[in-house]
Amino acid sequence: MSRRRTWNPAPGRGFFGIDCNTGATLHLNANRGGGSARSETMSGMGKNSSKTKVTTHRLQEMKAKSEKIACLTAYDYLMASILDEALVDVILVGDSAGTVFAGHDTTIPMTMQQMLYHAGVVARAVQRALVVGDLPFMSFQASVEEALRNAGAFLKEALVEAVKLEGGEVVCPTIRRIVDAGIPVMGHLGLTPQSIHKFGTYRTRGTNEEEANQILADARALQDAGAFAIVLEKIPSDLARRVTASVRVPTIGIGAGPHCDGQILVSHDMLGLYSRFRPRFVRRYAEFGQQMLEAFQRYREDVKTSSFPGKDESY
Ligand code: KIV
Repeated sequence: MSRRRTWNPAPGRGFFGIDCNTGATLHLNANRGGGSARSETMSGMGKNSSKTKVTTHRLQEMKAKSEKIACLTAYDYLMASILDEALVDVILVGDSAGTVFAGHDTTIPMTMQQMLYHAGVVARAVQRALVVGDLPFMSFQASVEEALRNAGAFLKEALVEAVKLEGGEVVCPTIRRIVDAGIPVMGHLGLTPQSIHKFGTYRTRGTNEEEANQILADARALQDAGAFAIVLEKIPSDLARRVTASVRVPTIGIGAGPHCDGQILVSHDMLGLYSRFRPRFVRRYAEFGQQMLEAFQRYREDVKTSSFPGKDESY
């Protein structure tokens, strides 16, 4: 089947997938928020169908089969539905919303309330991808209990399927507690933007032996604490290759080279919508910011010169 599809959102359409735990085919109603129409049905659809719901278990299988995992970010319904239509495997509701959506200089000001709002609208749009909510700064550091409640809110209120949090060995007791409560956790190592004021620089992490060894130890600790995947941000390719080979869970790279089990980018960066900061690891797949500017300028001109609205656009 061709992987290229046209965007055709059809609210209310049904969706089939295999439950990786039981093997039964699931019929998921498009409106996940309604929560009433999830019923198990039989269908001939194979486990690797493009419509198969992505679960944490499926990501594990993808690593085992060396099938790359494609991940991107979303903060709103429109972006999330297009990403899901494009068969992106994991949609992260990242706290990068703080910079590319809300216009802050860092991700630090994002609150739980704001993240839950973004996560809720994304989860409503998505049927196939695994949706992960990013625990913002100070939502998981103060105590394990607070972290657990905030992680729980992502699943219970926003209806996402997993959470992500930044940090290494230090956050492992927190991860263990959250996972024990039935909430899948994605780790995040290397450049961890919530700690930017501690480090004072966005330079590549793990470039000396001490830092590299710490990242390797952190990755193993996250795996042992129960993390289902680990984001590796801005570390040398060779270190990412070593981490990927030394853990059973998938690694998802951003500025970490080609050897990771999957890749993630901030959608606004790869679409050319956000240009304030342009790291070298971002490949631009579109120049939508420029196209939008030109469209707005043309519209303005048409209004000023009374060429909009025309006869066909009037009643
Ligand atoms: O917040 C985010 O979007 C992220 C990704 C860059 C991994 O953490």
